[in-house]
Amino acid sequence: MTLETDKTTTRMTMPSEPTAKPLLRALGGEAVWPPPMWLMRQAGRYLPEYRAVREQAGGFIALCTTPDLAAEVTLQPIRRYGMDGAILFSDILMVPWALGQPLRFAEGEGPVLEPIRDAAGVAGLRLDQVRERAAPIFETVRLTRALLAVQHQRTALIGFAGSPWTVAAYMVEGHGSRDFHVTRELAFQDPALFGRLIRTLVDATTDYLLAQIEARAEAVMLFDSWAGMLPPSQFRRWVIEPSVAIVRNVKRLHPGIPVIGFPRLAGPLIGEYAQRTGVNAVAMDTAMDPRFAASAVPAGVALQGNLDPLSLIAGGAALEAEARAVLAAMRGRPFVFNLGHGIEKTTPPEHVAQLVRIVRGG
Ligand code: CP3
Repeated sequence: MTLETDKTTTRMTMPSEPTAKPLLRALGGEAVWPPPMWLMRQAGRYLPEYRAVREQAGGFIALCTTPDLAAEVTLQPIRRYGMDGAILFSDILMVPWALGQPLRFAEGEGPVLEPIRDAAGVAGLRLDQVRERAAPIFETVRLTRALLAVQHQRTALIGFAGSPWTVAAYMVEGHGSRDFHVTRELAFQDPALFGRLIRTLVDATTDYLLAQIEARAEAVMLFDSWAGMLPPSQFRRWVIEPSVAIVRNVKRLHPGIPVIGFPRLAGPLIGEYAQRTGVNAVAMDTAMDPRFAASAVPAGVALQGNLDPLSLIAGGAALEAEARAVLAAMRGRPFVFNLGHGIEKTTPPEHVAQLVRIVRGG
């Protein structure tokens, strides 16, 4: 009941004039058609202009912490395709980095962190340093917003963070994994310790998102890429509850800023996630049936997704059929066209242009 009231208030404070940016209108609960679109990982290695700037920066973390370069790669897909959303160029692992956990991105290997698995490791995290260490990222937000205002007025800027569960999984494991065994075991074996890590991440993530909003991000997204590997009891405890806290913290200070949640592979728990967390939009993964999501998620909550990024590599008729199926399932409800997971680095850039033509054609 309280949640419903909160959502109504939120919707009323959102921009609703016809001149508002299409993405913000859809996230505010309006069935905008053709739907606004952007793509997860739209800035990245499939674009030659990204590879050039990445080389100039010298490394991935350097790129994320050099505001003019990070703003430039944020804008590259907007320039090429005129997307309705620009997503801040950074990474979910910049929060552990800002907390002081050593991080590097090894070529061909993905992220590598010094694993945290005991009380001393959790106690050593420096919540007090997050704003200062992450300052260049907030500067990127400020700069990108200023550039969008001059060059791309209909494009809205999305800030983001990883959700505590997914970020904790990398922090404990120390690297990517197919099943994050060590983390799932720790959550069962020492829930008090794991809970302290999650609470630290709730606080750090709240602060990190608030700073992005203060730097004028217009919406924020919580990426929970590994939400789907938990049994329902653990999903409620480590995915839903921390997300409830973050959404509440953000909404208390910024009720008009829409929050998008991405509980990847949540399956039938997607409805409970949407209702409990109070997010304005839920991003659907590739495996989600959009018709099921439409029936499980409250009508005023926008859906986002969920084209298979592999169909975007294929292009042609396969891409057209898949994109049209997503559009048909979502017609008439608040919806943002996107992929069900990040764009692959072997995607031909002209296939993205083909997709934009299909979606814009309605
Ligand atoms: O365009 C955008 O979407 C904005 C920037 C963005 C990146 N990562 C850039 C990036 C965003 C929103 C993310 C989110 C992210 N990062 C997630 C959640 C979404 C998902 O994909 O599930 C996760 C789990 C990460 C962690 C991460 N970062 C991994 C596992 C890797 C290595 C995998 C790979 O593709 O190399 C990264 C690196 C990374 N983050 C790259 C980019 C463009 C590639 C780095 C490079 O240029 O070499």
